[in-house]
Amino acid sequence: MGKGFFISKAVGIVAIILCVGAVAVIIALSVVYSQEKAKNNNQVSPTDGGSTSNPPVTPSPSNEPWDKYRLPKSLVPDHYNVTLWPRLTLDATTELYIFTGDSSVEFECAEETDLILIHSNKLNYTKLENGHLAMLTSVNSGVKAPSIKYSWLQNVTQYLVLQLNGKLSKDHRYHLVTQFTGELADDLGGFYRSEYMEDGVKKVVATTQMQPTDARKAFPCFDEPAMKAIFYITLIHDRGTVALSNGEVKDSSNFPIEGHNVQKTIFEPTQKMSTYLLAFIVSDFAFINNTIDGVLIRIFARKPAIAAGQGEYALNKTGPILKFFEKYYNTSYPLPKSDQIALPDFNAGAMENWGLITYRETALLYDEAYSSNSNKERIATIIAHELAHMWFGNLVTLRWWNDLWLNEGFASYVEYLGAHEAEPDWNVKDLIVLSDVHRVFAVDALASSHPLSSREEDIQKPAQISELFDAISYSKGASVLRMLSDFLTEEVFTMGLQTYLGKFAFGNAAYTDLLNHLQMAVIANGIQLPDTVPNIMSTWILQMGFPVVTINTTTGVVSQQHFLLDPDSEVTAVSPFNYEWIVPIKWMKTEVVQEPQWLTDKSATNNEMKLSGADWVLANLDVVGYYRVNYDTDNWNRLVVKLRTDHELIPVINRAQLVDDAFNLARAKIISTVLALETTQYLNNERDYMPWESALSNLDFFYLMFDRSKVYGPMQDYLRKQVTPLFEYYKNMTLNWSKVPDGHMDQYNQVNAISLACRTGLEECQTLAKSLFSQWMNTNVNQIHPNLRSTVYCNAIAAGGAKEWEFAWSQFVKATIATEAEKLRSALACTKESWLLNRYLEYTLDPNIIRKQDATSTIVYIANNVAGQPLAWDFVRARWSYIFTEYGGGSFSFSNLINGVTKRFSTDFELQQLKQFKADNSVVGFGSGTLAVDQSIERTISNMKWISENQENVLNWFKAA
Ligand code: BES
Ligand code: ZN
Repeated sequence: MGKGFFISKAVGIVAIILCVGAVAVIIALSVVYSQEKAKNNNQVSPTDGGSTSNPPVTPSPSNEPWDKYRLPKSLVPDHYNVTLWPRLTLDATTELYIFTGDSSVEFECAEETDLILIHSNKLNYTKLENGHLAMLTSVNSGVKAPSIKYSWLQNVTQYLVLQLNGKLSKDHRYHLVTQFTGELADDLGGFYRSEYMEDGVKKVVATTQMQPTDARKAFPCFDEPAMKAIFYITLIHDRGTVALSNGEVKDSSNFPIEGHNVQKTIFEPTQKMSTYLLAFIVSDFAFINNTIDGVLIRIFARKPAIAAGQGEYALNKTGPILKFFEKYYNTSYPLPKSDQIALPDFNAGAMENWGLITYRETALLYDEAYSSNSNKERIATIIAHELAHMWFGNLVTLRWWNDLWLNEGFASYVEYLGAHEAEPDWNVKDLIVLSDVHRVFAVDALASSHPLSSREEDIQKPAQISELFDAISYSKGASVLRMLSDFLTEEVFTMGLQTYLGKFAFGNAAYTDLLNHLQMAVIANGIQLPDTVPNIMSTWILQMGFPVVTINTTTGVVSQQHFLLDPDSEVTAVSPFNYEWIVPIKWMKTEVVQEPQWLTDKSATNNEMKLSGADWVLANLDVVGYYRVNYDTDNWNRLVVKLRTDHELIPVINRAQLVDDAFNLARAKIISTVLALETTQYLNNERDYMPWESALSNLDFFYLMFDRSKVYGPMQDYLRKQVTPLFEYYKNMTLNWSKVPDGHMDQYNQVNAISLACRTGLEECQTLAKSLFSQWMNTNVNQIHPNLRSTVYCNAIAAGGAKEWEFAWSQFVKATIATEAEKLRSALACTKESWLLNRYLEYTLDPNIIRKQDATSTIVYIANNVAGQPLAWDFVRARWSYIFTEYGGGSFSFSNLINGVTKRFSTDFELQQLKQFKADNSVVGFGSGTLAVDQSIERTISNMKWISENQENVLNWFKAA
C-alpha cells in the first residue's frame, strides 16, 4: 500500500459518526471533559485513567512496559490523520478554553505484541462504541485486529495503554482511532493559548510548542524523535481566522456545525517527520510574503505589527539566509513553504517547527523606531538558527535526546554563518567568542559540569530531556563544532556534512554518524590529522571541561591540564581520557602567524616556542580552540606591555581573550589577580568592542563580589578613569550623542561606554541619562535612540524615585511593541527603592501583569540589582514550589533563575541558605534547574574563598592604579 489512505470499514463508520454526530460528540466531549476534570482534577490515577475497564492492579513500582519512559520497539507509526478544533472562546460548560480532536494513526507491527503504548498527556478520551478509549482495526482485510481487553491512561509515563485480547501480527498494519478533548491552557506547552489586546479587545491565539515531549498533549502519538511519520492535519476554526500548520493548505471550506460558522482547513500531508516538529496555529494574524526560487516565505504577526511593517526585516533576510543554507548543505530547502510567526506568548526564543517556525515577538519583529542594533542582530541570528534546523535536525534528526547537543550546538554554530550572510558588514562571526565560548567556559570550568554527550539510558524522563537544553549543549556544542570546522577547513567540514545529510535524509542518526562522515571527507581530501576525527572529537565530547594549555617560553614546554575555576573543587566524574584533550593550536610569534600545531599528550616540547629577546608568543588565535592559554610570567609581561604600547598588533579577538583568560586564570589561582588587573590598564587606549565587552563581563564579577565592600569606591575611581576616554570618543563621534555610529560593533561599544561611565558615576553621563529621560517624561515624546534606551532607562530609573518608576511602568503597560516593553521591563528592575522592587517582584507572578514567558527573567533582572538581589532570593525561596509548578515546562528559564538569584553569593551565610533551599525543596524538585543548584553551591564556595584571598590585594591595586 502506498502512502495514501485506506479506510477500513470500521474506521469509515467512525468517520461517518464523527461527521454526522459532530455536535453531539462535541457536547458529549465537553461534558465528559468537565466530569473527568471534576473527578480527577486532571490527575487520573495510574490505573484508572478515565478508563472504563481497568487493567490488573500491579504492585508499585512495577516494571511493566507502561512504567517505562521509552516506547517499546514493537510498533512503528506510518501516518496519522489528525483533526483538531481549538476554541478561542471560553467553553460555557467547563469554563475553560478547550480543544477537541480526533485522530487515527496507522502503524506497522514490527514485533508481535498484545500491548499498544502510545503517548498521551492531559487528554481526556471519549469512550467509543467498543466501550474503550480507542478503536483498533486492521488495515489488511485478511487479518483481523484483536479486540481490546483493557484501555487506560498511565499518567506518570504519559501513555494511553491498550491491552489486547490477542496478538498483533508482525509486519501487519493497524489503525488506531481516538477522540479526545484537552485544555487549551496558557501554559506555553503542547497545544496552548496566547492572548493579547487589540483595540481594547482581548484576542486569543491557539498555538503549539511540542519540543521536546508535548506533542502528546495535543493528540495521542508515538512521541519520540525516531518515530517519524507522515501527518495529515485538519484544523477546524472560526471563519475569518487563519489556520496554519507545517504543510500548505490543500483545501479550506465552510464547515457549518449547528450555529457555528466554522471553517475546515485541510493541509497537504507533511514529509516524514518527528512529532516534536509539528505545529498547529489558529489566529487572526496578518502576513506579508514573497517567493524565492519557488519557496513561499511568509511572516505572520498581530495585525497592527504587520501593518506597521515590523515583519519586513525578517521577510527580507529569510530568503538570503535560506539560500545560504541550501548552498552550505548542498541540499535544496526540503519544503514548498517557510512560514514564520511571532507570538505574544512563547516560552523559548524560537522553535524550528518544520515549515512553520514560531518566535516570541522580540525575536522576529523589527521596528526601526524601537529596535536596537542588538535586537536586530538577535533577529538575524535566531532566524538563521531556526532555518539551519530545517535541514540539520528536521530533515535529519538525532535518534534520541541524548544527542541533543549536536542538534542545538550545530545550529548555534551555523547561526553565525547565516547571520553573516544576512549582514556581512557586522562581523557577527567574531561574536561567538563572547556569546558562546566565554559564556560556556564559565560553567564548563566547574567540577559539577557534565560532558556534551549523555548516555541514552540516562535520558528517560521529560524532565531529564528538558535539562539537556543548557549552555553546554548550545554553547559548548557550538564552540567545539567551530573548532572542528576550523581544523578540517570549511570545505572538508561541509563535504562531510553534506554526505551525512544525504545519507540520513528523512531519517535519524547519532552524533557518531556525523563524525564518521567527516572522517570520510578527511580521507577523501587527504587532510593530515594526528588522529581520526572521532578520536580527536571524543576527547571534547565524552569528557566534561576543557584544558588550560600552558606555554613556557623559556623551556619551550607546552602542557595541558583540566581547567577548574576552583582548583580545590573535587572532580568526582571519571573521564575516559583522564582529562587530556587532543588540542589544535594556532599561534603567532611576535606578529607572525606560525604553522598550527597539535598537542596530543599531557606535555610536549616545541622548540619554536622557546623565546629570546623581546619576542612574544600568542596562542589560540581568534579563539578557535576550546581552551584557555597560560604562559610563563615573562611572556605574560611581554603581552601586557604589548597591549599597553601597541595593542593593535594583537588581533582584536585575542585582546578580548587575553583579558578573559587572565581573569579566569587568576580566579583559578594559576596567575595573580594583579596580573589580570594589569590587562585592563591599556583599556584607556582601547576603542574596540570585543576587548571592552570581555573586560566588562569579567569586571562584573568584581562588582558582584565587591559592590557591598570597601573595595567598591577605589574600583569605581579606577574604572571611571579608564572609561572616560571611551566616553569622550563616542561623544565626539556622535556629535554630542546626536547621531548613531556607523559600525555595528561601534554601536555596541557606545552603549558600553555610556553604561560604564554612568555606573562609575561619571557625572556628565548621569546628567545625560537623566535629561534624556526627563525630556521624555515632560514632553511625552521619546527621542532616545533605541540603541541607548536600555541603558538610559536603567540609569534614569536608578537615579530617580517613584515618579520615574511609575512613568516607566505606565509606558510598559501601554507598550504595544514587545521590544520596547522588554527594554522597560528590564529597566524597571534598576530602581534602588526596596518597596518598588518588592512590589515589582509580586507583579512577576501575576500573568495579567507580566506574561508567564517573562516571569523568571524579570526576577533575574531584579536580582542583578544589588538592592534587589536579597529581595529576589527571598522571593524565590518562599515561592519555589509555586513557581516550579506554575512556570514549569521545558526551557532554560529555571537554570537561569537559580543561577541569576544566587550569582552574587559569597558568604557562609548565603551558602547555608542555598543548601537549605536545596534540602527544603528536594521533594518539589528543580526540574531543568537541578544542575544549576549544584553549580550555584560550587560557585558560592569558590566566591567565598576568592574574596578572602583577594580582597586586600585588589583594594591596594585599585588604590594605587
Ligand atoms: N529548539 C529550540 C527551542 C527550544 C528550546 C525548544 C528549549 C524546547 C526547549 C530552538 O531551536 C532554539 O534553540 N531556540 C533558541 C534560539 C537560539 C538562537 C539559541 C532559543 O529559544 O533561545
Ligand atoms: Zn535550536
